[in-house]
Amino acid sequence: MAILKIARMGHPILATPAALVSDPTAPEIRRLVNDMVETMADANGAGLAAPQVHVPLRVVVFQAPGALTEDPGLAGAEAFDHTASLTVLINPEIAVIDHVIEGGWEGCLSVPGLRGWVERPAHIRYRGFGLDGRVIERSARGFHARVVQHECDHLEGRLYPARMKDLSRLVFESEICHFLEPA
Ligand code: NI
Repeated sequence: MAILKIARMGHPILATPAALVSDPTAPEIRRLVNDMVETMADANGAGLAAPQVHVPLRVVVFQAPGALTEDPGLAGAEAFDHTASLTVLINPEIAVIDHVIEGGWEGCLSVPGLRGWVERPAHIRYRGFGLDGRVIERSARGFHARVVQHECDHLEGRLYPARMKDLSRLVFESEICHFLEPA
C-alpha cells in the first residue's frame, strides 16, 4: 500500500472525464483501491476519486459515517440510507429519485483549505461494481447522497465549485464559522 499524491484544482487530470474499468476484479484495480483508501484516510477525507490520484479510471471510494441524527427515533431504518460504511464503487451510475434539492457545505482534497455551499439532488439511487465484480445498488440521501454525487462528478472532470450558484459561499475553512448557525 502507498499514500498517493493528490492532484490539486488546475491540474488537467481533474478536468478530464475518466474511462470505464473493463475488469473490476483485476489485481491492479484492487491495488489502486487499496492505495486510494490509504490516501483518503491519511488526508482525513470522506471520499476520493481515482482522477484525484492521477489515474483516469471510473473508481471512487467513500464513507458516510452514521450518528448524523440526534433523534434516537430516527436511528433505525429511517436513517439507514444516510450512512454508508467504506464503499468501493467501480463504473458508478447515479439516478435522481425526485426533484428535492438540498444545500450543504462541501470540501475536496483537491481544493484544500476551502469549503463551498453546493445544492444537489437530495435523494438518489446509485449502482456500480465492487472489487469482487458484484453489483452494488443502493438508495442514498443526506451526506451519503452528497458524497456519492461529489465523487462521481470527479469522474466527469467536474469539481464542486463548478456546481456552485453563489460564489460568495466559497470560503476558507477558518471562516466557515461566520456561516454556521450558533449552537
Ligand atoms: Ni472532491
